[in-house]
Amino acid sequence: MTVTSTAGSGDTSITVSSGASLTFTSANWNTPQTVTLAAAQDTDTTNGSRTITVAATGLTSRTVTATEADDDGGPTPTHVDNPYAGATGYVNPNWSAKAAAEPGGSAVANTSTAVWLDRIAAIAGAGGAMGLRAHLDEAVRQDAANGSSPLTIQLVIYDLPNRDCSALASNGELLISQDGFNRYKTEYIDAISAILRDSAYANLRIVTIIEPDSLPNLVTNINSFEKCREANGTGGYRDGVRYALNQLHAISNVYTYIDAAHHAWLGWDSNFQPSVNLFYDVVSGTTAGVDSVDGFIVNTANYSATTEPYFTINTTVNGTTVRQSNWVDWNYYVDELTFAQALRSALISKGFRSGLGMLIDTSRNGWGGSARPSGPSTSNDVNQFVDGSRVDRRIHAGNWCNQSGAGLGARPTANPATGLDAYVWIKPPGESDGASTDIPNDEGKKFDRMCDPTYTGNDLNKHNMSGALAGAPLSGQWFSAQFRQLLANAYPPVS
Ligand code: BGC
Repeated sequence: MTVTSTAGSGDTSITVSSGASLTFTSANWNTPQTVTLAAAQDTDTTNGSRTITVAATGLTSRTVTATEADDDGGPTPTHVDNPYAGATGYVNPNWSAKAAAEPGGSAVANTSTAVWLDRIAAIAGAGGAMGLRAHLDEAVRQDAANGSSPLTIQLVIYDLPNRDCSALASNGELLISQDGFNRYKTEYIDAISAILRDSAYANLRIVTIIEPDSLPNLVTNINSFEKCREANGTGGYRDGVRYALNQLHAISNVYTYIDAAHHAWLGWDSNFQPSVNLFYDVVSGTTAGVDSVDGFIVNTANYSATTEPYFTINTTVNGTTVRQSNWVDWNYYVDELTFAQALRSALISKGFRSGLGMLIDTSRNGWGGSARPSGPSTSNDVNQFVDGSRVDRRIHAGNWCNQSGAGLGARPTANPATGLDAYVWIKPPGESDGASTDIPNDEGKKFDRMCDPTYTGNDLNKHNMSGALAGAPLSGQWFSAQFRQLLANAYPPVS
């Protein structure tokens, strides 16, 4: 007997892709067989339906209705597993114009970079930059212009009270001691979520990067920094991140990724599991529990390589593990991809969703150019081997400000590796990490010597030179010389 499945009236993007005609014999009549339907990309934003009729000679036919989940949103937008898959990335016109104005910059000016909401005034638009609504309106316009692909826009949520508690360059405007938590809730998170809830933006996939460096500071820096110790208490980072997650996760087309620092911050066993425990403690205390996060991001605004191509954590040199080198310094990871994948596994073991997706900020971790090694060193000395083999050319892996020699990294890519939702450009290349001299300002930012090229370092970078470029403006401001260096040292190269 032959059983046919035929698509009938309704949305023609839904079709029978296999099993349209199935044969059942006296030998296999009671073994189920499968009919598979497909839903092709279409130009609308609604969840279309189509009838499928299953028929066989001599039997009464049956008609079922198949409904697609349209990934362009629709009246009830779908919260997809990976907001980057199949999507186009939002191009920030403000960043794009600055990049395009640099020599050769137009080759990358169409890359999607994140929008940093780095103070309350950034929501309305500060210093000539577009505000949140202006960005979302532009994102809707880009979405309409990109055919049937959905559009992903990335926002960095970055205004916790006592922000940047172990450094100075990105100190923020709010303090816990000055009612900062209430202001964070009402003037910042509530103001942002009220805009994101607007139905005009319901078809966008809005990715939020939650508070770079905040929870990691609570893992490693509460003993040495009073501001971090205070941030570990009431009205600090834990309460702030929970509040942000509760408001943002409640909006179905908003995606939340928590910042998890980078391998050279949390990769030692003394920090790794405590981080996993802290993340779990904070997130499980939200209204939706572990469901309130879509994933985690590593390397935000940092320079660690995605992959060190010429050695792994298991490499030995003349019988000595690379872990013993000054560069690796007993860390359990040598790069971001291995760190991100291990962190994901540990988070899932702890109780996070198995669908958790990781992101790596690859905007400035390319390390191309003439100083890039082309193969492993042949030295028998573990330090010389690691220093001659590593593509990350920093003086010390704890250096973080405007690094000399850095290049643009992998361009944004969805599903680049197991467990990863995407490589993303969160730190907009060309925007400074901090001023190399003391520059007065009204944003709360201070002079951090790690941005001063003459600084000889502190405990956090084991008293090495800072490796920072000279002539840098305040964090977030355009640093033309840095952009040109990043472009010249891009890896993969920019053609
Ligand atoms: C700064 C922010 C800026 C962001 C992106 C951070 O270091 O503190 O003001 O928006 O970088 O460049």
